[in-house]
Amino acid sequence: MSDQKRSAKKHTPTAFGIDIGGSGIKGAPVNLETGEFSAGRVRIPTPLPATPDAVARTVAQVIDAFHLPPELRVGVTFPAVILHGVAQSAANVDPSWIGTNVETAVARATGRSVVAVNDADAAGYAETLYGAARNNAGVVIVVTLGTGIGSAIIVDGVLVPNTELGHLEIDGHDAESKAADSAREREGLDWAQWSARLQRYFKTVENLFWPDLIVVGGGVSKHHAMFLPLLDLRTKIVPAELRNAAGIVGAAALASRTTRPD
Ligand code: BGC
Repeated sequence: MSDQKRSAKKHTPTAFGIDIGGSGIKGAPVNLETGEFSAGRVRIPTPLPATPDAVARTVAQVIDAFHLPPELRVGVTFPAVILHGVAQSAANVDPSWIGTNVETAVARATGRSVVAVNDADAAGYAETLYGAARNNAGVVIVVTLGTGIGSAIIVDGVLVPNTELGHLEIDGHDAESKAADSAREREGLDWAQWSARLQRYFKTVENLFWPDLIVVGGGVSKHHAMFLPLLDLRTKIVPAELRNAAGIVGAAALASRTTRPD
């Protein structure tokens, strides 16, 4: 990070997005007209253990790297079910988060009001506004393949939050334990072997939800040419476009549309 603080450009609708991930906490101001960062992204490694206090302090450090107007909306992603700001689950994060109000914890550390959203919801929403699913009417399902499997369902542009389709039970297993990118790495699966698991997964999803479009995100989506052509689905399935910016962009966009009582 440079010593010079980064400033958001003035006069364009802007909000600040922060992506809380397992290895890094990343943030940038987002131009809400274009979905692009209006200043360079800052990343700080996620503290270990990733307890609420330690993470909230790191989020504050990311925000402090910028000159931001006090009223700027701030959105943070978190890899768990988030109901009205409160984390309800902890599939791949420190269990001490369950029951923690993410918005209050981050607000206390930063002095700013904050909107917290599920990480896949943020990524999915960003794809519908600015990425692979823009201008798509109907039911769009965005699935992120990473340590876990995240999902977002967007219907005619409206997000149905906390769908948690990574935890569908398939063949007696929690789906993400077999089909997440972490399962591919852990078990040393080649692309064909992993694709067979993705086929089972996406077939189940399309049979249950009948989406118009499936968008595949997460870090591994940059290798989409290795596995998407191996899938045989009735639904059109495409790679995400915003890649690792999606969480930040979606958090900012959702924060700009969400009001919280003071
Ligand atoms: C969590 C979801 C999260 C997904 C991706 C799952 O294990 O339950 O809330 O969106 O991982 O991080």
